[in-house]
Amino acid sequence: MAYKGLISEDILKHADIVKVVGSYLNLVKQGKNYKAVCPFHDDTNPSLTISPEKQFFKCFVCGTGGNAFNFVQKFEHVSFPDAIRKVADIVGYHPEGLEAISKPVKVDEKKEALLKCLYDLNLYYQFAFNTPDGKEGVEYFDSRNLDASLRNKYKLGYAPKDGKATIDFLLKKGHSIVTIEQTGVMRMISNTNYRDMNEGRVTFPICDIDGNVIGFSARRIKNDDSAKYMNTPETYLFHKTNNLYNIHIAKDACKLKGYIYVCEGFMDVFALGKIGIDAAVAIMGTALTNEHIQILRSLNVEIRLCLDGDLPGQSAMMKIARVLAKNGIRFRVVDNQGSSRDPDEILNQDGKEALEEYLNKLVDHNDFALNYYLRSNPLKTNEEKKALIKEFLPVLLRINSQIELDTYLRKLEKITGFDAESIRDLLRRTRESVNAGEGISRELFQNFHPEREALQKLVTAERELLYQMSQNKAAVSFYEQKIGGFYDDIYRQIAMFMVEYAENHDDMDLGGLIVLVEESDLDNKDEIIEDLTSMAFETHPNKCDENLLNNLLETINGEKSRITDEDILENSLKGKSELEQARIIAEFRRRKMNK
Ligand code: CTP
Ligand code: MN
Repeated sequence: MAYKGLISEDILKHADIVKVVGSYLNLVKQGKNYKAVCPFHDDTNPSLTISPEKQFFKCFVCGTGGNAFNFVQKFEHVSFPDAIRKVADIVGYHPEGLEAISKPVKVDEKKEALLKCLYDLNLYYQFAFNTPDGKEGVEYFDSRNLDASLRNKYKLGYAPKDGKATIDFLLKKGHSIVTIEQTGVMRMISNTNYRDMNEGRVTFPICDIDGNVIGFSARRIKNDDSAKYMNTPETYLFHKTNNLYNIHIAKDACKLKGYIYVCEGFMDVFALGKIGIDAAVAIMGTALTNEHIQILRSLNVEIRLCLDGDLPGQSAMMKIARVLAKNGIRFRVVDNQGSSRDPDEILNQDGKEALEEYLNKLVDHNDFALNYYLRSNPLKTNEEKKALIKEFLPVLLRINSQIELDTYLRKLEKITGFDAESIRDLLRRTRESVNAGEGISRELFQNFHPEREALQKLVTAERELLYQMSQNKAAVSFYEQKIGGFYDDIYRQIAMFMVEYAENHDDMDLGGLIVLVEESDLDNKDEIIEDLTSMAFETHPNKCDENLLNNLLETINGEKSRITDEDILENSLKGKSELEQARIIAEFRRRKMNK
């Protein structure tokens, strides 16, 4: 080890950082340093500084820096020993003992045997297109617009129906039955009866980052009730969730482009390939694992999430986006623009330009999240809406431009129905509390009830009834029989607790109620308890009699029907021409007068 250290130090002494970095980037002299456009972030101004004096490089924007070895390591995505050898080549200095700096080559015999076997098997599948039953495979791929050259590029194949013959071929090639078994492709029924798991299906070899076949996915040809795709089970070599499909092709392509698309399926990778984008991988489903993240991170390019436009795809992307953001990974999201299709469907139905355009509609995490709630997953309860505002508070706090802030506020207004000004007000108070060093206080947020401001009368009546319920079982049964559910989310939750409490107790008691709430596993317990606590300190002058209850009922029903009418009106106006809108409003007024 000491020896290795000396050699690398020796090489470093001979490796002028200006020469090394200059072999990759255009350098401009500036004072005693050099400057270059930084390749490690999305740079436009030259912000990478190379110091001949210190023999270091550093980007003062993204923070990447180091010596000549580090530069090559980061730029080429190679191991440290590889970087040392590359630097030696760049500066033309090859001291004795350089060869000693290499990865220990430990031959993994089991791995080698499995790789050879899988390699032969994949060739067999590829040749099977030329057999009589292989025609079905060819026809299938033709129907998916995968011609011979694409089939070759992705080494697609067909597993003949005679799955025993496939295994016999491997045995004849000299692969042991143990090795064949360990590849995961064989189904052993008895010593003389064994089959190929993939038989009768078209095959997609899954490769490691070096392009070695390590497993298969096999698709059914006809729409029967068998699994659409069958994957090699977990083996010594193959762990489906660790692998990114097409990574061996994408890893080089993405360095040229500076980005990589992450899709769901094989067909999507092919669709992108067909329009010249080889920088694409598939996660083979909707789950992005830690292993995937490690691989993607090491590529050091922008991740472009491109899962299917349908709801499962979009909600998976919401999850993935959160994880990537938490891991500090640079990414953007392809905006589905309300379409539920996947890239393969877009290409087939609308053509090359349409797919190109689709892939170029990229939004950042925040815009994606807002679009997601706007389009895919309308928020239902006020609680969900408030949770969204809470999630966005830190984002809003970071925005400096008024115009941008307004855009966000309007979107949030649209999603939640909360007045943009009340959100702005919350933001202002939050900013004050942050500036005062108090952070984003929970209290501020808990007093944020814009929905109640707009519905003052309704909420006041509901709150009054809730108070009476906390004192009086008769009010609870009145609620159960006549109201059934409050409009306000929190009040509705509290009322549920009260109903439950009333069933098991002779008298209402706020202390007992709080115990009941404490024992539940609600997320917003604190808020409920706070409401109940303040109730305990109130005295209401009204006597809880039939008269009061009926008055409250009347207000509640009246206000509720008013809201629903307006809501219906607003909804029926959406997307209509001005003339039509005028007609609908007139009709609405007429009916209201007649009521
Ligand atoms: N997948 C899988 N097993 C399944 C279904 C799907 O491994 N039973 C993986 C495959 O890698 C598939 C991806 O999840 O490509 C996405 O699934 P889906 O969208 O259902 O398939 P498509 O890629 O659209 O394939 P096709 O067009 O053939 O239906
Ligand atoms: Mn799909």
